[in-house]
Amino acid sequence: MAIKTRGDLIRRYIDFFVSKKHKEIPSASLIPTNDPTVLFTTAGMHPLVPYLLGHKHPLGKRLVNVQKCIRTGDIDEVGNTTHHTFFEMLGNWSLGDYFKKEAIEFSFEFLTKVLKIPLEKIAVTCFEGDKDAPKDEEAAKIWQSLGISKDRIAFLPKKDNWWGPAGETGPCGPDTEMFFWKSNEKAPKKFNPEDKTWVEIWNDVFMQYNKNKEGKFELSKQQNVDTGMGVERTLAVLNGLDDNYLSSIFQPVIKEIEKISKKKYSGKENQKAMRIIADHLRAATFILGDEHAIKPSNLGQGYVLRRLIRRAIRYGRLIGINSAFASKIAEVVIPVYPDYPELLANKKFIIENLNEEEKRFNETLEHGMKKFESLVSSKIKEISGKDAFLLFQSFGFPIEMTVELANEREIKVNERDYKAEFEHHQELSRTASAGQFKSGLADSSKQTTKLHTATHMLDETIRRVLKDKNIKQRGSNITPERLRFDFNFPRKLEESEIKEIEETINKKIKESLIVKREEMPLKKAIESGAGYLPGAKYPDRVSVYTIEDKADKRGFFSKEICTGPHVSNTSELGKFKIVKEESVAAGIRRIKAILE
Ligand code: ALA
Repeated sequence: MAIKTRGDLIRRYIDFFVSKKHKEIPSASLIPTNDPTVLFTTAGMHPLVPYLLGHKHPLGKRLVNVQKCIRTGDIDEVGNTTHHTFFEMLGNWSLGDYFKKEAIEFSFEFLTKVLKIPLEKIAVTCFEGDKDAPKDEEAAKIWQSLGISKDRIAFLPKKDNWWGPAGETGPCGPDTEMFFWKSNEKAPKKFNPEDKTWVEIWNDVFMQYNKNKEGKFELSKQQNVDTGMGVERTLAVLNGLDDNYLSSIFQPVIKEIEKISKKKYSGKENQKAMRIIADHLRAATFILGDEHAIKPSNLGQGYVLRRLIRRAIRYGRLIGINSAFASKIAEVVIPVYPDYPELLANKKFIIENLNEEEKRFNETLEHGMKKFESLVSSKIKEISGKDAFLLFQSFGFPIEMTVELANEREIKVNERDYKAEFEHHQELSRTASAGQFKSGLADSSKQTTKLHTATHMLDETIRRVLKDKNIKQRGSNITPERLRFDFNFPRKLEESEIKEIEETINKKIKESLIVKREEMPLKKAIESGAGYLPGAKYPDRVSVYTIEDKADKRGFFSKEICTGPHVSNTSELGKFKIVKEESVAAGIRRIKAILE
């Protein structure tokens, strides 16, 4: 039976790996927790970093899921047939369990038996070896033993056949990538990885190295397997489609854009515009509809969201859409994804924010265009960074939009000066652009671990000191230097309250409370009073971190469902100090704190 829908492909993948003793885990939020330098979850392995580093996963050593991901690195490529900002990634993991042989055998069996891809249409690449790691003859031999001919195996360098770490440090290793011959014509006997008729559909990473702070690759304690298969691309090629937007995932969206614009999905310009609209508004729908819902803003994830929405709107104008349309697209995206209940639950929020952002942008677009025209009227060759920043700051023009508008007139934009100007104004984006993925989860450093435990203590203490049981965590972000914690509360905290929070935590630190990790079914964890993030999805079996306190009538000071890691005793923390308390949004306060 042919695989026609994303649902079919996902189900078969997960069922297959469940039959191979894997446990299904839910898709994590698009907004990484406790990872300060990455804006979005970019791969299925990302939420699993602590487990890849050796923490025990409550569901065992074999996992499988489909993960919602956002990658903004190739945003300029979006508009072609294959690149997306939002996409879904299927993945299976071995956490120190099986390694190359089984991983490759599973992949081969799934491709040939479940997806029924004929052997003649398959080719693979393996790592060619360098000073850090040897040539992956082992992987190649396994492929050959399964029937892949030598001619269909290419060895490539690190840039192609090495994956990770997701940050600057952490688990990584050589990979083997699987390619599908998408044409109806017979595939050549010899595999040429440069030939674009071969489409990469799956990647098995053998995470046997750990990149350290000095940039050295050390053999890791635990040998893991991390794999990733893109749903959009795989579904398209399995259906003989040369364009992902022709698959059942995108067709309802493309049809809606055709209806609104009264244009056909044909011709280079229309197709490019429609793909950008479909891609960007699908991504925006998922960011707004995430369990950690984000609003458009000029910072971090909110700014990415703003850029996506505005770029989509501008492309809408280019194909003649002159009325508000962003939320109409979201209305057709949501039903494509019934398996992400957060979209439906946040539907009102998605629609309202899209409408609001579109309105806001339309108000400044006209003035901004006038400014832009006046800038380019004097036959300049380049728009300065300062002017590009002015267009952003005063008229809300995302930089890509200024660059695109300028390119249409064969004018350059000084993006480097723009960036300097921008970074000058934006603290968070500086971290994001200067060194994505720098630390956070990926290093699990001692200091990050301590701050993580301090965050649990802060969460509990805020509720106690402010005497409000309804206070909940609304965001958390930890670097080795500080913790940042957002929570709902309607007013500024008093000096005396801040002091009391600090004193309570420091007292508990001094009491040397034991921090205990347990595994239990989700239901039991919630019944036992463990705190959890509202709206977040948890697997059926979870780990619970308890800060024990014999003096408390519940027997604990804090209890949270959490992936960890944490210290084992509060005495390890040092002195807790709040360095900032401020408002971040209506009804949301933010505390920044350090351990001295
Ligand atoms: N993490 C690997 C990737 O993203 C599987 O390709």
